[in-house]
Amino acid sequence: MTASIGIVTVSDRASRGEYEDKGGPAIEAALARILASPWRPIRRLIPDEQPLVEAALRELADAEACALIVTTGGTGPAPRDVTPEATEAVCERILPGFGELMRAVSLRAVPTAILSRQMAGTRGRSLIVNLPGKPSAIDECLDAVFPAVPYCIDLIG
Ligand code: MTE
Repeated sequence: MTASIGIVTVSDRASRGEYEDKGGPAIEAALARILASPWRPIRRLIPDEQPLVEAALRELADAEACALIVTTGGTGPAPRDVTPEATEAVCERILPGFGELMRAVSLRAVPTAILSRQMAGTRGRSLIVNLPGKPSAIDECLDAVFPAVPYCIDLIG
C-alpha cells in the first residue's frame, strides 16, 4: 500500500496568499529525494491558529492515516507561533530526541536555531515532526532525523 505523508505549512501570510508557500514544496522535494518506496503527499496550508493546526494534524493522523506528518513554521518564540503547542496537544507520546537533534544540527549553520521549539511525537500510528519555517532548514533537519523515521513508524504501526 502506498503510504500517505502529511505536509503542513503553518503560516498566517502564506495562508492569506500574501506570501508563496515555499516550505511545503521544499518538504515534498526533500522527501522525494530521501524516500525510495512510493508515497502520496497530502498538503495543508494553515494559519497560525492553534485549534486549526490541531484539527489539521488530527485529520491527517486519524482520517487520512498518514504514517508521517511533517509541519513547517510556527516553532519560534513569537506570540503567534503555536505549532509545538498544537503538536503537544494532539500527541500521545513526545519524542524529545527529534527536537534536540534538529536544533543541534541546525546550530552548526545558524546561531538562531536555538529559537526554534520544534518537536516530535506520536498520535496513534502517525509520527508528527515539526520543522522551522525557513526552507533552508528543511533539508538539514529532515536529513538529520530520517535515519530513525522508518524504524519509529515500524514501532508504532
Ligand atoms: N534552523 C535552521 N536549520 N535554519 C534556520 O534558518 N531559523 C531559526 C530557527 N531554526 C533556522 C532554524 C529561526 S530565525 C527561528 S525564529 C526559529 O527557527 C523558528 O522559526 P519558525 O517560527 O519559522 O518555525
